Order: sequence, then structure tokens, then C-alpha cells
Amino acid sequence: MKKRILSGAQPTGELHLGNYLGALKNWVALQNEYESFYCIVDLHAITLPQDPQVLKQKTLDLARIYLAAGIDPDVSTVFVQSDVAEHAELAWVMSCVARMGELERMTQFKDKAKDGTERAGVGLFTYPVLMAADILLYQTHLVPVGQDQKQHLELTRDLAERFNRDYGETFVIPDPYIPPVGAKIQSLSDPEKKMSKSDENLNGAIFLNDSADVILKKFKRAVTDSSTDGIVFDEERKGLFNLLTIYQSVTDQSRDEIESHFAGKGYGHLKTELAEAVIEYLKPFQAKMAELNDEELEKILQKGAEKARSVASETLRKTYERVGLHKK
Ligand code: TYM
Repeated sequence: MKKRILSGAQPTGELHLGNYLGALKNWVALQNEYESFYCIVDLHAITLPQDPQVLKQKTLDLARIYLAAGIDPDVSTVFVQSDVAEHAELAWVMSCVARMGELERMTQFKDKAKDGTERAGVGLFTYPVLMAADILLYQTHLVPVGQDQKQHLELTRDLAERFNRDYGETFVIPDPYIPPVGAKIQSLSDPEKKMSKSDENLNGAIFLNDSADVILKKFKRAVTDSSTDGIVFDEERKGLFNLLTIYQSVTDQSRDEIESHFAGKGYGHLKTELAEAVIEYLKPFQAKMAELNDEELEKILQKGAEKARSVASETLRKTYERVGLHKK
């Protein structure tokens, strides 16, 4: 039997190159080797205020993005989190296993609770517990994510281990898969910060539907430095390092190859070539986006939800049984 993967993204904002290179690219690459479940996490999306109509549309759009990126619905299970009630049900059980202290240490909660923890939604606080439920329901072995989700994965492992110890062996302990290149794409306008859907500076992120002109303009404006040490992978030169990392991820070349390719060239040259490489890289994706209609997507999501439910209900049944809950 194949080992399992589960991963997901939130249907909020515009997906960007960081999401693509840190997550989607690897989902596609791993889908044949593993039995894969790719979820659109709309329950997570409502931990911050969302416009209901927009959320509905974004949920369908994200399914379109998954497929256009190369997730094959005949190979992988693509589904919406709220279609599978077991996610919310297991999250409740896991919230009785999690401790306040460990959730208080989650850096994403601290970042997102901008107005302070006193006013933050409880859902935002328990967000990582729902994420643990997503993963554990599918007896997942591997979770391909970007670097920013690593802490949530560690919590998931801790909760699963605690449950297994207290109630008996129930959950597979999942491993994160954090890609060696592209797990942490930084903002083009502020390389100290990660590329993010919520960046106020729109030049900081390359969005997946950006036109060729916009992509070129954004890379041309990307922040670099005034060093004369040439174009080399130097983690201290954060802006340059980020551009080279993007180049490496979209071309799949080695660092040596890239450094010799750009030897003696300047930033202007690098930025133009990088923009061209990214435009080419996104071309098939953008073309496929235009082809997939809503009706087709709804069918795929319905089938995906049925498959997901068949696996999730089995884990939930076992969990309820272990805990002594009455539901049959
Ligand atoms: P989300 O929607 O914020 O991001 C989706 C994926 O994109 C990765 N990512 C990045 N990778 C590299 N560079 C960046 N700048 C960058 N920004 C985002 C994220 O690491 C993620 O893999 N909590 C999750 C969604 C989730 C989930 C799950 C993931 C809910 N349940 C179960 C895995 C398993 C999130 O908010 O991702």
C-alpha cells in the first residue's frame, strides 16, 4: 500500500509564487508516489473575517489552481474541508488533547493576532488544532508544506503522540516534507519578510495570474544590494539570495550552474532573465486556468469529498471509540 500525503491551502487572497514553489510544485511532484489528499481549507479561512460570496468563489478558484498546477484528480483526491464534517469533529477531540501553553507558543497566531491576543478570535487560536485534525484524519505519513508551517507540524506530531500514549495506538505520526529549495520565498520589496498574500506592498509578491508585463516590472523593482561581489548564493545578501532561489526552483539547475551562468553579469541582467524564466514557468499553468469551468470543478470536488469522507469517517470512528464517545 502506498503511503499517504495530505496538504492544503487557504482560499483567501491571491496565491503567489511562494505558495507555488513552497507547496503546490511538490504536491504535483509527489502525487504519483503517494496516495494524496489535497484539501481547500475553508474552515481555516474563516478564522479571519471573510466576505461569504468571495469565500465561495475563492474556494472554487483554488480548486482550479490545484488542477491547473498539475494535480490530477484521477490520481489525487481534491476536496473542500467543510464538505467533510469529520474535520471539525476530530478538531474538537484534539482541542481536548492540546494545551493552552503549546498553542500560545505558535508564532503564526502571534503574527495574525495583530490587535493583541485579548481581541483575537478563538478560532485563530485553535487554528493549529484543526490543522492537526486535517492531517491525522487521513493517517498521513507526509505533509508537504513551506517552512512557515513547520511549527504547526511539530504540534501535530506532539498531539498525535500524546493521544496514542493516553488512549492507545490510533494515529500515524506524520513527517513534514519541506523542500530543500523554495520552502521560504521572501518578499521582493522587503527580503526580510516572507512573500505573503497579505503584503500591503503589491510589488512584493508575484501572483500566479500576473501578466508577463507585471512580472517583469515586479522583478525589475526587486530590492537587492550594492555589493560588487557578483551574483552568488550568499544568504547574507537576502534580496539576491531570494532571486537566485526563485531562479533555482523554476529552472531546477544547481547552484554552481547558476553562478557560472551569471558570472560577470549584473543585477539588471539577472532580473530580466529571472522574469523570463518565471513567465515561461507559469505559462502552462495560466493557460490551463482559463480552460477549467466551474461545473467540472464542482463534480471533481464532490467526488473528492466522497473519497475523503470514506477515509476520514473510519479514523473518526476509531478515535471516538478510543475516547469512549457514544456515536455509532
Ligand atoms: P497557506 O494557505 O498560508 O499556504 C499554502 C502553502 O504555501 C506555503 N507558503 C510558502 N512557501 C514558501 N514561501 C512562502 N513565502 C510561502 N507562503 C506560503 C505554506 O507553507 C503552505 O504549505 N495552515 C496552512 C493550510 C493548512 C494545511 C493543513 C497545510 C490547513 N490544514 C494541513 C498542510 C496540512 C496555511 O495556512 O497555508
